[in-house]
Amino acid sequence: LIKLKTKNYNILIADNLINNFDELIKKSYHKDKIFIITDQNVFNLYEKKITKSLPSFKLYFHVLKPGETSKSFLNYQETINSLINKGIKKDHLIIGFGGGVVGDLAGFIAGTLYRGINFIQIPTSLLAVVDSSIGSKTGIDLELGKNLVGVYKDPKVVLIDPLFLNTLSTKEYNNGLAEVIKMALIRDKTLFNNIKDKNKLTIDDIVRTINIKRKIVRKDPFEKNLRMLLNFGHTFGHAIELESNFNVKHGVAISYGMLISIEEGIKRGITKHDIYDEVKDLLIKHNLVKEPLLSKDKYLKYLKHDKKNLSSGLNFVFIKEIGKSLIKSGVIFND
Ligand SMILES: NC(=O)c1ccc[n+]([C@@H]2O[C@H](COP(=O)([O-])OP(=O)(O)OC[C@H]3O[C@@H](n4cnc5c(N)ncnc54)[C@H](O)[C@@H]3O)[C@@H](O)[C@H]2O)c1
Repeated sequence: LIKLKTKNYNILIADNLINNFDELIKKSYHKDKIFIITDQNVFNLYEKKITKSLPSFKLYFHVLKPGETSKSFLNYQETINSLINKGIKKDHLIIGFGGGVVGDLAGFIAGTLYRGINFIQIPTSLLAVVDSSIGSKTGIDLELGKNLVGVYKDPKVVLIDPLFLNTLSTKEYNNGLAEVIKMALIRDKTLFNNIKDKNKLTIDDIVRTINIKRKIVRKDPFEKNLRMLLNFGHTFGHAIELESNFNVKHGVAISYGMLISIEEGIKRGITKHDIYDEVKDLLIKHNLVKEPLLSKDKYLKYLKHDKKNLSSGLNFVFIKEIGKSLIKSGVIFND
């Protein structure tokens, strides 16, 4: 069992951790009802297993439609109503069991229902394991934009059983892998080298990735400075997602975004020029980008705070070389 500590809670990681869920949850929660929020795909695959793994508790499932649309305000309200109708009380426990969509919505509900109730994350997608379940950010989308409403909500514990990832489609796996590659690029050359020749991550790779985010979040929990490093590739990534009306997957969008950032860094003499092909080849290998690559010009008008960009520039994350990154302010992009 690998135990990573954050200020307020632990992240526990082991293959077959599911066999210990019951005792682990009993350590910090002493009621007998648990409210599990999940989505239909995860429910179909794991309802029996998760139920069998928690014999000490009476479980109430709330099953969401899979996909980003479930992170809506309407769904927030509907889910809360359904939990209240099922009898949820202030001292009960909500588990977010699924990918990032489930975790973000369940966490936001746990952070706001009755002004906050017990919460545990059991992430099942690679993206949720290495990224969204770490760092306590939760939230929902509005029509005006994604993740506009949310709270920081610490879980009591994050329980990670990498064997859940075995049922993930290659497309979803690679979507999460894009964030792993991002974290390696900003902070960990060894991780980058470790994952170069593999299709599947080892537990060690997963732990290294979580550790990168965990350490950054520990130093800057509320995204005032250092946490911005995690936005590497995301400035243009978001622009690409917006331009495509969110038809391009997040992992794909940030992969093109990372290559644009490297290109821009090279142009400005910040980034070593010989890493471009190495990163590109890895992203091509995992079907995250393909040639011809996207050029930044089409996306300039979709950059956040576009007007500000023209005058005072953006905060932008560059990498110097693999594993070393920096934030620059006042960065301006021209056609
Ligand atoms: N809170 C944060 O800090 C943070 C960070 C990054 C991303 N996010 C959010 O995370 C969300 C994306 O997360 P995601 O990529 O996990 O999306 P998701 O939750 O939609 O999951 C992706 C797909 O994989 C399926 N799935 C999940 N686990 C599975 C399993 N074990 N086997 C088979 N299928 C499985 C889901 O049903 C879904 O169809 C976005 O809403 C994003 O805003 C949040």
